[in-house]
Amino acid sequence: MTTISTELAAATRKLKGDDLENARFEAEILLSLATKKTRETILTHPETELSEDEAETFREFVSRRSKHEPFSHISGEKEFMGFSFIVTTDTLIPRPETEILVEHASAVAQKFEGKNILIADIGTGSGCIAISTANLLREKHLLSPATSFVAIDISKEALAVCRRNIGKHSLDGVISVFNGDLLLPVIEKEIFQGNEVFIALANLPYLSAEIYASSPKTVQDFEPKSALFSKEQGLSHYRRLLEQILQIKKANPKMKIFALLEISPEQRDLFSNLAASIMGDKKIKLDFFQDLAGKWRLVKLEIL
Ligand SMILES: C[S@@+](CC[C@H](N)C(=O)[O-])C[C@H]1O[C@@H](n2cnc3c(N)ncnc32)[C@H](O)[C@@H]1O
Repeated sequence: MTTISTELAAATRKLKGDDLENARFEAEILLSLATKKTRETILTHPETELSEDEAETFREFVSRRSKHEPFSHISGEKEFMGFSFIVTTDTLIPRPETEILVEHASAVAQKFEGKNILIADIGTGSGCIAISTANLLREKHLLSPATSFVAIDISKEALAVCRRNIGKHSLDGVISVFNGDLLLPVIEKEIFQGNEVFIALANLPYLSAEIYASSPKTVQDFEPKSALFSKEQGLSHYRRLLEQILQIKKANPKMKIFALLEISPEQRDLFSNLAASIMGDKKIKLDFFQDLAGKWRLVKLEIL
């Protein structure tokens, strides 16, 4: 038999030796996960004996973390906008810098309260953008049947996780899930018909080859490259998305169209040029927003 204090001490040594800065804290959280006891219980009862199963699970978690596997893959969840999401190795782990996209999305939807609105989350991954936007609108009592959501991803595995998150947040009748390339499922099924406002939300892969190559090892080793890298200086996905959005506008000239897209900070000018060249004679309004770290992170495009 082993105790909390013995296991914590050994785990802290191991994690420290593998260059994890907050080794003791991480060990406590991992032990809390493995034993389903709160951190407070663990800290106040160091003499408690652990069962063999608990000790084995804990050591496995510590071993995975010591290889710098993201904490969220071990816990199987990540908090985003104050909501909890299931994540796996098939999804990107939601990033805090994406939260401003959700705040702007809910503000745009709120502005058109009472209209028929279609909100599309393109490259939905865990579903965190669509689900958080729907949750914010629901909290404000603005989630009416006039507002519908679609969540699209090219990865069937990611969509399986997204579906679980939709269920977890009780949004089954609100968000429809489609497997496909960017907005193609929406275009092919003409899902935008009958809507007065279309809001495209996307945090698509936008890292250029150079930036992807310099991203942290944990990202390259543990998160899907297909969720992060894009050709054409990181803008190939957005180029094709803008072409599809233009196609939707041409088919529905009266529909108000917005796109809220997360970008890499150095892409601001590149993106402006790209949008102008694709939209041609269509007038557009572009606004850029910084994330909490002061980096250009979000572009809001409106087709006028
Ligand atoms: C950067 S991740 C973002 C995931 C999620 N929105 C988030 O913020 O955590 C990009 C997502 O786009 C998806 N994706 C990549 N190419 C796509 C395409 N051509 N059509 C649809 N989804 C795509 C990936 O599978 C991945 O889930």
